[in-house]
Amino acid sequence: MAYLQTDVTKVTTRVLQNMKLHGEKIAMLTAYDYSMAKLLDSTKIDVVLVGDSAANVMEGHKTTLPITLDEMIVYATSVVRAIDRALVVVDMPFGTYQGNSKQALASAIRIMKETGADAVKLEGGEEVLESICRILTAGIPVMGHLGLTPQSINKFGTYAVRATEEDEAERLIHDAHVLEQAGCFAMVLEKIPAKLAERVTREVKIPTIGIGAGAAVDGQVLVLQDMLGITQQFKPRYLRTYGTFGDDIANAVRQYISDVKQRNFPNEKEQY
Ligand code: KIV
Repeated sequence: MAYLQTDVTKVTTRVLQNMKLHGEKIAMLTAYDYSMAKLLDSTKIDVVLVGDSAANVMEGHKTTLPITLDEMIVYATSVVRAIDRALVVVDMPFGTYQGNSKQALASAIRIMKETGADAVKLEGGEEVLESICRILTAGIPVMGHLGLTPQSINKFGTYAVRATEEDEAERLIHDAHVLEQAGCFAMVLEKIPAKLAERVTREVKIPTIGIGAGAAVDGQVLVLQDMLGITQQFKPRYLRTYGTFGDDIANAVRQYISDVKQRNFPNEKEQY
């Protein structure tokens, strides 16, 4: 199938806006290292997110809170080196933008200068508006993130679906308009009822990218290790896996161990 935007040599925020206008869905995945990012870019994925989910899948933390700006910059630099086409968005980690817009701008500038990424993403609505506005004044594109915002896990106390009650849903709709009016180029909607995500998508002109937010959004995002079946303990309802790479890797390693132990590797052709 031919897609409207397949021929672009570089995905920009304007390309994403056009995709929303023309009804072409946006495909986004996470990456944290050069090799995976290179593979992703060869598939013509639209957006690569260097997510702070690196705290979980790369570093083994229980939450995304511990990851630092320095660590995110290392992951993002490796990803940017691999990418020619996709738009690269980097998550601003917990504690680098909340409550202090000058610090937010300094953090965003470090990400853009040191990694060469195209945009930053941060979690929250009106409560982080000042930070968003200040970052935007430096010409740095900002992607918002509403619904389940994992950096606030200690406030929520659970990773359950958000905004199922009317007052939280109304607040989310308000925040979506705040992000749009502030000048965000897109927003992630995480783990909210599909009907609510549909309403937000209808009401705002910027693209919405869902994760656990149903089909009536402008695009989808998943964590790469989750969709490849590498993170085997994490199976939320919204997750579709496109492979059993966790099992495949373990089987390959078992075969290698067996070959080494049984003196099957290397053979005569595999030596000098
Ligand atoms: O950090 C991340 O991977 C994310 C996505 C789940 C949207 O924020």
